[in-house]
Amino acid sequence: MSPFQLTRTLPEHATEAALRSDVLHGLTRTPKTLPPKWFYDARGSELFDRITELPEYYPTRAEREILLARAGEIAAATGARTLVELGSGSSDKTRHLLEEFSGLEAYVPVDVSESALRGAGRTLLAEHPGLTIHALLADFTAGLTLPDTPGPRLVAFLGGTIGNLLPDERAAFLASVRDMLAPGDFFLLGTDLVKEPSVLVAAYDDAAGVTAAFDKNVLSVVNRELGADFDLDAFAHVAVWDAEHEWIEMRLRAESAQSVKIPALDLAVDFAAGEEMRTEVSAKFRRAGVERELGAAGLETVRWWTDSEGRFALSLSTPAV
Ligand code: SAH
Ligand code: AVI
Repeated sequence: MSPFQLTRTLPEHATEAALRSDVLHGLTRTPKTLPPKWFYDARGSELFDRITELPEYYPTRAEREILLARAGEIAAATGARTLVELGSGSSDKTRHLLEEFSGLEAYVPVDVSESALRGAGRTLLAEHPGLTIHALLADFTAGLTLPDTPGPRLVAFLGGTIGNLLPDERAAFLASVRDMLAPGDFFLLGTDLVKEPSVLVAAYDDAAGVTAAFDKNVLSVVNRELGADFDLDAFAHVAVWDAEHEWIEMRLRAESAQSVKIPALDLAVDFAAGEEMRTEVSAKFRRAGVERELGAAGLETVRWWTDSEGRFALSLSTPAV
């Protein structure tokens, strides 16, 4: 059996139907929105990887610092034989876990980006030839069927991607994670922490314009998949700190009044000059809030680690008895 298998859990037309439905609902409501999972075609995944190397974008470096310091402790505490990773992307930081998990038999990366899953599989197998990789091309918010691999399981959700879910989506998502876990399994969660707004805004509006290109990439996806005629130059990238919700909001602002045609939906969407469309929230957390949300889903926090500057946290939780 090949050490790398990729399973598409949704038929291809279901992905297209989901995009059509999200675009139709998002662009016919006020204010207009597009969900962030559509950023990640091959180019979007590549742009995200470039973001992680930007001087302003600290979360990846901060989380890597914690993983490097704590991977041995995580391996010892969990004894995991299967590592499931939700929204795994390039799996770049995951290698710090794999290096310490001597008893690991299977790695199950889950992502909507096929290019990211295949690239990560190639890189990891070159480093760990004995590992079995069951990649799942799947939406982690849509109910997952995990492969039958040996327990105990560690389910990891790194990068602060949980912050890209809205609060009600987060609660449903955490409940679904709880349902994936048997007694003795664990959940490793990365959360970016509340900090000085100027630091946060710079992380989402970098000087080189990589985040702006990432933000606009969702328009390219809609153009390509639904035949739309978004003019990327007619929109500006905006990042604002919402102090009430404690999240960064990324938006695309129409620089002039315009009408965009989306033939696959038989739709024309009008934008007023200056109108802003929300493309992502990136919530920032405090320890008490993370523990409360995990607790509400039936997960008990057993460890909490931060980087040396207190910018980012990793928590380890387990089904509450
Ligand atoms: N975990 C990596 C990558 C974070 S980027 C890191 O910490 O650096 C977010 C990843 O989640 C992307 O690879 C994107 O394709 C994936 N993703 C976003 N929404 C998703 C969804 N609903 N289901 C599955 N994967 C999703
Ligand atoms: C994937 N996710 C955690 C990133 C974040 O920081 O919210 C996505 C991102 N958006 C802009 N820059 C990075």
